[in-house]
Amino acid sequence: MKMMIAGNWKMNGLAASQGELQNLIDMFSGSTPEGLDILVCPPATLVASFAASYSDEGVMIGGQDCHPEDSGAHTGDISAAMLADAGAAYVIVGHSERRADHGESDALVKAKAEAVLAAGMAPIVCVGETKEEREAGKALDIVGGQLDGSLPQTNDEIVIAYEPVWAIGTGLTPTISDIAEMHDFIRGKTRQDIRILYGGSVKPGNAQEILAVKNVNGALVGGASLKANDLFGIISAAPGNV
Ligand code: 13P
Repeated sequence: MKMMIAGNWKMNGLAASQGELQNLIDMFSGSTPEGLDILVCPPATLVASFAASYSDEGVMIGGQDCHPEDSGAHTGDISAAMLADAGAAYVIVGHSERRADHGESDALVKAKAEAVLAAGMAPIVCVGETKEEREAGKALDIVGGQLDGSLPQTNDEIVIAYEPVWAIGTGLTPTISDIAEMHDFIRGKTRQDIRILYGGSVKPGNAQEILAVKNVNGALVGGASLKANDLFGIISAAPGNV
């Protein structure tokens, strides 16, 4: 299975940020690491220009969200078909920030994931527990419920991202054994060929240890993906084919 290092830029990035991606490509000096998929998910405004510039350079481009329908009267929304048309290969769905900020339910996340598949891309379905849920010993139950409710039934490619809500943007990470427990649990509930990414305060300094965990098949990186140096550090820590 190929590891995936995916950057989620969230609501960050202007046209000038293309320079940061160019810096990353320059660091590879012409050849991206073998056995590794590299994905950058910029804001929707930059998907088309990034995809046009970098899809042939070994960096795939993805979206951060989509509407479950193909088209229609939904002012301000973007459909999976539009992201595919702009050159996206993957779309993140169900990120905890969308579940929290926009009240997205498991059923809606599943509908979005199905729309991504229908548009010929692969969804990255995010799951993860809050601090309170972990402290109450409910992390596995919560994530299990999210998986049951949000994962589409398909033989096509899907990616799962386990992102504990309390680890996002905080500098906190679960212990290695807690990461291992959760990824083993998710693997037990899903197809063997589905990549399970870990996300939440992944940095160059902790990437090697996290990416070495069994059933961790890559990382979904927020803050550290905005700087070419940091993202390159994480990519360099990845063991490649696992
Ligand atoms: P950070 O890497 O900034 O903690 O964000 C993780 C994340 O939410 C990626 O989707």
